[in-house]
Amino acid sequence: MLEFAPFRIPMDRRMQTFAVSHFVFCFLFLGPLSVIFFIYVMFFTSYWYLLIPYIIFYVLDWDTPEKGGRRSPWMRNWKFWKHMSNYFPTSLYKTVDLDPCKNYIFGIHPHGVLCMGSFTHFCTNGSEFESIFPGFNSHLTMLPFWFRLPFHRDYLMTGGLVPSTKRSILHILSRPDGGNICCIIPGGAPESLNARPGDCVIMLKNRFGFIKVALTEGVDLVPVFSFGDHELWEQEPNPPGSWLRKFQDFSQKWCTFALPMFHARGIFQYNYGLMPYRKPIHTVVGEPIEVEKNANPTKEEIQALHDKYVTKLQELYDKHKSKYVKGESKLVIE
Ligand SMILES: *[C@@H]1O[C@H](CO)[C@@H](O)[C@H](O)[C@H]1NC(C)=O
Repeated sequence: MLEFAPFRIPMDRRMQTFAVSHFVFCFLFLGPLSVIFFIYVMFFTSYWYLLIPYIIFYVLDWDTPEKGGRRSPWMRNWKFWKHMSNYFPTSLYKTVDLDPCKNYIFGIHPHGVLCMGSFTHFCTNGSEFESIFPGFNSHLTMLPFWFRLPFHRDYLMTGGLVPSTKRSILHILSRPDGGNICCIIPGGAPESLNARPGDCVIMLKNRFGFIKVALTEGVDLVPVFSFGDHELWEQEPNPPGSWLRKFQDFSQKWCTFALPMFHARGIFQYNYGLMPYRKPIHTVVGEPIEVEKNANPTKEEIQALHDKYVTKLQELYDKHKSKYVKGESKLVIE
């Protein structure tokens, strides 16, 4: 039986649904639509000349994403994002105060299907990041490919998003005045293939890049765990070895995209659709792990910091799970 949403819904709930549907739509379709729009106007209409100023801007602006991007405090502070946060709702907690004279790397787990918590917390003021971490600018890193698409790139950059390249990350972490947080999701897109209600399976054992950057730059590492982020959608079963997983690994390898087959509810009914469930997301920012600068770390030194990071992350999870985890679900580190 289809279960429909009630006809009479308070206005603020409608706004929440609208804000989340905007996010899901943009995440999935804004990139391809920007390209289609660009090609259509360029080659199939007589208005192609209107794109020339944009093309000039695009070429001159080519390097901006890797040089810290172009955040818009005004857009990050839209009321709209607050509605998005209230849909679940999402909450952001800190365990200690951070020093605004320093830069930090946040390692965020898990990725979830669409990075819902990470985006709300670190690309908008929807869960009041600006009040919780006063004096800090947060930059979430994302696949570099998305910053090449016309128009789409400009929208991404307003939230403080930057490409997940070494050059871009170093640019943010080497700012001398401090107050910058580079938010990295070590599991990356492949981790989204594990996101479904139940155990939280994160990919960390073979992720050394962010550890190495922390060492070479001497930047403190902060483990961040987002309780509930992996439970917002159902996902078709894709155990290792299944044809679906093989196809997903193939597309991951050749196109860099993960293609999770996810679904939860719709806008007007609760049975099927791309809208996430209304389930709370609790994101806890742990204590920083102090890292001493080491320009040429050995393999053992990288491994030692990685081990320490995994221990601290597990401790953070264990300390807070009783408040935020319902039922039997466990943290599985792969
Ligand atoms: C972020 O949101 C909070 C709560 O609505 C508000 O008090 C604060 O001024 C906002 N921060 C910025 C920098 O706009």
